[in-house]
Amino acid sequence: MSPEKHVNIYEKPESLENELERLKHAEFSHPFYASAKMLEGVDLKDKNFVDIGAGTDSRLSKFVVERGAKYTAIDYNLGHLKSMKESVDQGDNIFFVRGDIKSLPLKNESAPLTHERFVLMHLPEKERSKAIEQILSATKDEALFLEYNWETLQSETHPSLVEEFKSVALEIMDKLKIESKMGKKLFTEVANSVKDFSEEFDITEARFERNGKFGKEILAMIKSLTELAEKVFKDEALKNKLINLGERINTELSELVMSPPDIIGVKAVRKNN
Ligand SMILES: C[S@@+](CC[C@H](N)C(=O)[O-])C[C@H]1O[C@@H](n2cnc3c(N)ncnc32)[C@H](O)[C@@H]1O
Repeated sequence: MSPEKHVNIYEKPESLENELERLKHAEFSHPFYASAKMLEGVDLKDKNFVDIGAGTDSRLSKFVVERGAKYTAIDYNLGHLKSMKESVDQGDNIFFVRGDIKSLPLKNESAPLTHERFVLMHLPEKERSKAIEQILSATKDEALFLEYNWETLQSETHPSLVEEFKSVALEIMDKLKIESKMGKKLFTEVANSVKDFSEEFDITEARFERNGKFGKEILAMIKSLTELAEKVFKDEALKNKLINLGERINTELSELVMSPPDIIGVKAVRKNN
């Protein structure tokens, strides 16, 4: 398969096993923390919270349902929906819908709260603006967008080792047409869409940054990238480079202090609601 034609790994029917595992067992609490933080002060009671490109991690669904909301997961990938479904208590307040962020199965202003995290980065620019417009149209009260900015990944204790990881990760993201600086562009892209909505929304930006011993997160990422190198690119040299890098990072784990990619959050609040 040609990587050039491969725009969004999640829209392929044969989703990568390891990616599913990584999402399912994600130890990273930071994305969940960032979403929860952006919901601070938001009244969730009896509201429908629609999570677009919801993935497999059920933490956010549990969080909003515990606060009185109904949670609807929309995802293109049936396997991801099934995986999340298996990890939540089946109740009246959680729903699963297969759908595409670029043509959402939602009526205008039908969803009080909408949320997307790390989906836009997988879409080319034109599809991103379509997706943002779809989300804003469907949103009655507030829309939350969260995306990574890989530019901020760095380490003071092991600069060259982390730089080596960053460089190979960015090279692979480039091949997969993943926008690694999506977080950096997020406010502008949402603001551009808001203009098309006759400025019906107030938008604000939040930054979630960290510094500490987060080497394990890199190791999980290397595992996924190694599988991509093997199964998608069929590139033995790249695979071995990643394995070697993983081994070297593993030996430094207890000393490695780093800043993972920042998460940028953008909140769009419909005026006069
Ligand atoms: C990187 S994962 C993020 C999952 C989740 N939002 C999170 O933060 O853990 C991207 C998710 O977006 C979904 N996705 C990708 N393209 C999509 C599309 N066009 N429409 C709906 N979902 C999509 C994938 O199946 C996957 O579950």
